[in-house]
Amino acid sequence: MTAMLGIIGGSGLYQLPGLEKADWHPVATPWGAPSDDILVGEMAGVRLAFLPRHGRGHVHSPSTVPYRANIDALKRLGCTDVVSVSACGSFREEMAPGDFVVVDQFIDRTIAREKSFFGTGCVAHVSVAHPVCDRLARTCAQAATAAGVTVHKGGTYLAMEGPQFSAMAESKLYRDVWGCDVIGMTNMPEAKLAREAELCYASVAMITDYDSWHPDHGSVDISEIIATLGANADNARKTVAGLPERLDHDGPCPCGCDRALDHAILTAPEAR
Ligand code: ADE
Repeated sequence: MTAMLGIIGGSGLYQLPGLEKADWHPVATPWGAPSDDILVGEMAGVRLAFLPRHGRGHVHSPSTVPYRANIDALKRLGCTDVVSVSACGSFREEMAPGDFVVVDQFIDRTIAREKSFFGTGCVAHVSVAHPVCDRLARTCAQAATAAGVTVHKGGTYLAMEGPQFSAMAESKLYRDVWGCDVIGMTNMPEAKLAREAELCYASVAMITDYDSWHPDHGSVDISEIIATLGANADNARKTVAGLPERLDHDGPCPCGCDRALDHAILTAPEAR
């Protein structure tokens, strides 16, 4: 299958300059409209679709992002690989604002979102033991390194509901007891839905702050986040620009993302 790259841009990343033959397309799905029209074009000879997760103008909060429509729309356009780019807070001294973390695990604490394409009519249970595509994550780390960013390979992302930031006690629990590395509000259920859609998915988390656990940094505040977001967004665009030339799509995905439903659907074909 010919590779096509989907990019879901988070806070601060609402446009993708440098995309050739690019046009914004509305895409309809059975799950409603995605966050925005989708910019489809080409980069380094690879087809690429860019979707601003919060919509241009930042109109969707993390809880109201239409995650199912977003993933379905990218699948319908022909994407094989989806890279999430999003802002996050850090639980580790050495993971500093401005650094990127190529996440490899998640703890999902979101509570108010539709999390599956399956339910009444067709029941399926996919594995998300390894929620990120190894091959695509490696490609992301290489592209971010080439862009001159300090990259941490691997890290556990705590997905919180928001929109409020964490209390200090929560921040310390996630860091000291649960061993999380970063925190954000948007990668779940996105990663789970990408797996159900048999898409390779990787997440580049851009650190904007130290959340509220850090004794030398006060509580998280949105002005601090916005100040770091500008620089992060430049680095994110450079990272994305390095992805198409590195995209490795020879043969089936070695971790099996593209075959996730092979043994996951329980409903008999005649009952679907
Ligand atoms: N996004 C950016 N910083 C964050 C934080 N500290 N908590 C949750 N989401 C974030």
